[in-house]
Amino acid sequence: MSPTRTSVDTDLTEALSRILDARWTCRQFRPEPVPRDTVERLLQLAQRTPSWCNTQPWHVHLTEGAATERLRTELLAHVQSHPPAPDFPFPTQYTGAYRQRRRECGLQLYTSLDIPKSDQGRTLQQLLRNFELFDAPHAAIITTEADLGVYGAVDCGLYINTFLLAAQSLGLAAAPQAALASYSDFLRDHFGIPDNRRVVAGISFGYADPDHPVNSFRTTRETPENAVTWYTD
Ligand SMILES: Cc1cc2nc3c(=O)[nH]c(=O)nc-3n(C[C@H](O)[C@H](O)[C@H](O)COP(=O)(O)O)c2cc1C
Repeated sequence: MSPTRTSVDTDLTEALSRILDARWTCRQFRPEPVPRDTVERLLQLAQRTPSWCNTQPWHVHLTEGAATERLRTELLAHVQSHPPAPDFPFPTQYTGAYRQRRRECGLQLYTSLDIPKSDQGRTLQQLLRNFELFDAPHAAIITTEADLGVYGAVDCGLYINTFLLAAQSLGLAAAPQAALASYSDFLRDHFGIPDNRRVVAGISFGYADPDHPVNSFRTTRETPENAVTWYTD
């Protein structure tokens, strides 16, 4: 049987390419809330995420209005007086290429804000901006089912990516944040998250402040040659 070729819808390829190229992690939002119908469309699009056995293990705790302000205030206060307590272990070390890439994007971030490496005070202040949700009007906390283990978390990672791309397609900006999951214990109490759930990450979202220097840089990517090993016979 000769192999079949599906025809390529170039409009779709172009649309996806534009969304992927345009998306970036926003770290300063404008205060205006996103209209409820736009958030609902975003959530509808994100539900299209694939998952193993179609289990769809994600559950999202989503804030708007006063609920975002309460999360911002209480989380920041908690972080300043408690040690991190993530549900999933954080990376223990970054070596080789990972260390290099991490350093490059960190340098881009702090250079955009004119923060020298030696300025530990301002570096810490910027780190704490995570817990102020970068002033976003909305936060989404993504949890998975504990019984589904690592693949449940993988499915939630896919959900996060769909959410980010859908947000971009709707003219919104977003920041995926593992930082929020570093205080899973606080989030569990704050939102009444049941014991069988694990916090994977958070996403702050809203409208970007395009003039803020922290939004001025874009990260790089390796070429596929450095990410793929081909086998031909
Ligand atoms: C799972 C995940 C967790 C992340 N956590 C944080 C975070 O806590 N704080 C932050 O400022 N950026 C965070 N980021 C954003 C990454 O730094 C960013 O995606 C990466 O540097 C690539 O840049 P780009 O998103 O602008 O393309 C996270 C991204 C992902 C995918």
